[in-house]
Amino acid sequence: MKISDKNTQIGIDIGTSKICCAITEINSDEGSNKILGVGNVPSQGIKKGSIVHRDRVMDAIEAAVREAELMAGIKVNRAMLSISGDHIRGINTQGAIAIQKSSARNVPMEQEITQNDVSRVLELAKAVSLPVDREILHILPQEYLIDTMDSIKDPVGMSGRRLEAKVHLITMAATTAKNLVNCVHEMAIDVEGLVFQALASAIATLDTDEKELGVAVVDIGAGTTDITVFYDGGVRHSAVIGVGASTVTNDIAVMLQIGMEDAEQIKLKYASAKASMSSTELEFDLPVKNGGIARKVSEHELSRYVEARMIELIQLIGREIARSDVSDQLTYGLVLTGGGAMLRNLVPLAQEKFNMPVRIGRPKNFSG
Ligand SMILES: Nc1ncnc2c1ncn2[C@@H]1O[C@H](COP(=O)(O)OP(=O)(O)OP(=O)(O)O)[C@@H](O)[C@H]1O
Ligand SMILES: [Mg+2]
Repeated sequence: MKISDKNTQIGIDIGTSKICCAITEINSDEGSNKILGVGNVPSQGIKKGSIVHRDRVMDAIEAAVREAELMAGIKVNRAMLSISGDHIRGINTQGAIAIQKSSARNVPMEQEITQNDVSRVLELAKAVSLPVDREILHILPQEYLIDTMDSIKDPVGMSGRRLEAKVHLITMAATTAKNLVNCVHEMAIDVEGLVFQALASAIATLDTDEKELGVAVVDIGAGTTDITVFYDGGVRHSAVIGVGASTVTNDIAVMLQIGMEDAEQIKLKYASAKASMSSTELEFDLPVKNGGIARKVSEHELSRYVEARMIELIQLIGREIARSDVSDQLTYGLVLTGGGAMLRNLVPLAQEKFNMPVRIGRPKNFSG
C-alpha cells in the first residue's frame, strides 16, 4: 500500500452512532474533492462525543480506517480528527491593539496594518480567561474594526491607529479531546489537527451567499444536535444540545416497551415527524417477545410520540438560535444535516414551527 501524498486528505469522524474514515484527493484546479476511499462502521464506546469504553472505540476506529485504506489503496499514517459532543462550547469575544508606527521610515505616514498585527490582535482576542480544563478548538474571526470603521473582512494593508477583532471561539474539554487523540495516536496515525464536526459539515454544505445573508446549520446526530449560526460571512453563534436522534429511538423503546434495536428499525421504517401526515390505518406488528401477545401499532400513534419529541428539540434549537444576535436576520433560514435530519416530514414540521425556510443540507464539491 502506498503512503498518502500531499494531495490526499484524510479525515476521521468520531460520532456517537458511526465512525467514519474518508480518504479524498484535492483537485486544486477545480476546487473539488474526489473520494478515494471510505470506511463507515457502527460506533462503539462513544457517548455524546466522549469515550466511555476505550477498547471498543479503538476497534471501531481501526475497522473504519482499514476499510478506507483497502478501498483507496493508501496507507493512513496521518489524519484530521473531527469531534463533537456536548463538551464543546462557543463564545464571542474581542481584542484590540494599537498599531505601532514603523520606525524604519522617517517619512510621516499613516500606520499600515500588517499580517503580524492581525496575528497579535487575534492572540489577544483568544486570551480570554478559560477554565483550566478547556482549550480552544477554533478561533473564527467575524469582523475587524479600524478606528471607527467596522465590518472589515481583511485589514492587512489598511491604515489606522487602533485595530479591533471580533471573534467566535469554539472551546472543548481538554481531557476529552486528549483521550480521543491518544486512541488514534496509538494506531500509529499522526493527528494533524482537530475540527468541530458541525463546523466542518456546515462549511461543506453551505454556499457563500448563505453564510453572508444568514443561515443556521443544525446537525442532528445520534447523541447531540449541533447548531452553527452564520451571518456576514462568519460564525455568530455555536452550541451543542445534548438531545439527538437517539433520544427519539429511546422514546419509542420506552413507549412501546421494545428493545433499542427494534425501536431503531421501527423509527427508520414508520416514523414521521408530523403525526397528521401519517396514516391511522397503516399498522405494523411489534416484535413479539418469547410467548408474549402480538401487538399492532399504527404509524399515526408512533408518530405522535416522535412529533412530541421533535417539537421539544425544535424549541431547544429555537432558543439557541435566539441567543445569536442575528436570529431575525437569517435570510436562508435553517439547513438540517446529520442522520436525524432524514426523519420523514421533519422539514415541513420545522418550517411550520420556525416560520423560516428549511432545507436538507448535502455536502457539495464531492465526486467519486
Ligand atoms: N432515515 C432516517 N430517519 C430517521 N432517523 C434517521 C434516519 N437515518 C438516520 N437516522 C438517525 O440518525 C442518527 C445518526 O445520525 P449521525 O450519523 O449523523 O450521528 P453521529 O454523527 O454518529 O452522532 P453524533 O453527531 O451525535 O456524534 C441515528 O440516531 C439514526 O437513527
Ligand atoms: Mg455527527
